[in-house]
Amino acid sequence: MSAIVKSTSADDWDVSRVRQDFPILDQQVHGHPLAYLDNAATTQKPRTVIEAMDQYYRRDNANVHRGVHALAERATADFEAARESVRRFINARSIREVVFVRGTTEAINLVASSFGQGLHEGDEVILTAMEHHANIVPWQLLRERTGIVLRVLPITPAGELDRDALPALFTTRTRLLAMTHVSNALGTINPVKEVVAVAHEHGVPVLLDGAQALPHMRVDVQALDCDFYAFSGHKLFGPTGVGVLYGRERLLEAMPVYQGGGEMIRTVSFERTTFAGLPHRFEAGTPDIAGAIGLGRAIEYLEGLDWAAAQAYEHRLLEYATDRLKAIPGLRIIGEAADKVALVSFVMDDVHPHDMGTILDHRGLAVRAGHHCAMPVMTFYQVPATSRASMAFYNTVGEIDRLDAALRHARELLA
Ligand SMILES: Cc1ncc(COP(=O)(O)O)c(C=O)c1O
Repeated sequence: MSAIVKSTSADDWDVSRVRQDFPILDQQVHGHPLAYLDNAATTQKPRTVIEAMDQYYRRDNANVHRGVHALAERATADFEAARESVRRFINARSIREVVFVRGTTEAINLVASSFGQGLHEGDEVILTAMEHHANIVPWQLLRERTGIVLRVLPITPAGELDRDALPALFTTRTRLLAMTHVSNALGTINPVKEVVAVAHEHGVPVLLDGAQALPHMRVDVQALDCDFYAFSGHKLFGPTGVGVLYGRERLLEAMPVYQGGGEMIRTVSFERTTFAGLPHRFEAGTPDIAGAIGLGRAIEYLEGLDWAAAQAYEHRLLEYATDRLKAIPGLRIIGEAADKVALVSFVMDDVHPHDMGTILDHRGLAVRAGHHCAMPVMTFYQVPATSRASMAFYNTVGEIDRLDAALRHARELLA
């Protein structure tokens, strides 16, 4: 991991104490203690998030921005406070740059639909070969509508971006570069600051898919100098159904509205509608109020953690898991970038990942098996699917030991 502070050690992280904040972790699955190693799919929620959402529905439930009664005012204040928490967390300049959406997928669709309206036949968008489908399909849909051209930055066998190939991808028609900050299929942390700088030299704005980055590192959108940053609440220890599109104000101001309806207007008549200011003009309809409040609380929880220690700890888990899994005969790790989050994708000779997932489940181990919504990555490595153990700061070395033992057992059984 790039951002580890060397003076802080993994020993400074009290994992038993942190685990107590996550009630779901304390359960048995098929007679074994749950080892939740599917954090890249969704993370678990600390008690404080569950309580914030519960409290909202028990005490404050009302629609936002519309009412003058006490509950509406409370709901609005809490909803907007969550927006401010997001702004602070990612260091956006203004809450005008923080748009609540359903998640990363909707954030990228919003940019493809709205920013995309300014693109014409022959204009080009650069993607990378390690994108999640959420950062491929919206651009293909735009291509069908407008005739834009998609250019793809290749990856190396280690699972890193082929940086040398980047400069040649820019042409006078390049309008956007959209890429993932961290790969969900490989764990690779991309050198996004560097890529943003290169893109800006060519006058090209950059959208970063931060779904897998924010759960593992602090992100400062001003320091990265990116133009859009998308992420999902549920991967950040918050609820499902809510996410964020950060957008540079100048770009958002110039973009046409995305969806029409209530909340996003200033005046409406049958002749003409005028739109609300940022960020509300991109938030048509009643938002996920409880979700936003839950996300705000998740952010407050994360802000209270010692991130340097958490990162050092996660890095230790990654190194430990990598060493243990590599020692298993017939097991191949897919994605061995120098800079990775705590995620290990792997295949085992003669064992299908789905069978593997089932065997591990019977031992209480939750891992993911499949193409991880990154089929081009699977094609690149010529595998139909992988198994993926993705860790968070509440996982333990003991859980990795159990994974190791279960994988060896699976191999004896199936290979
Ligand atoms: C890198 C990446 N981008 C986008 C997404 C889509 O996120 P969501 O389904 O929350 O919209 C995911 C989810 O797995 C992801 O890992």
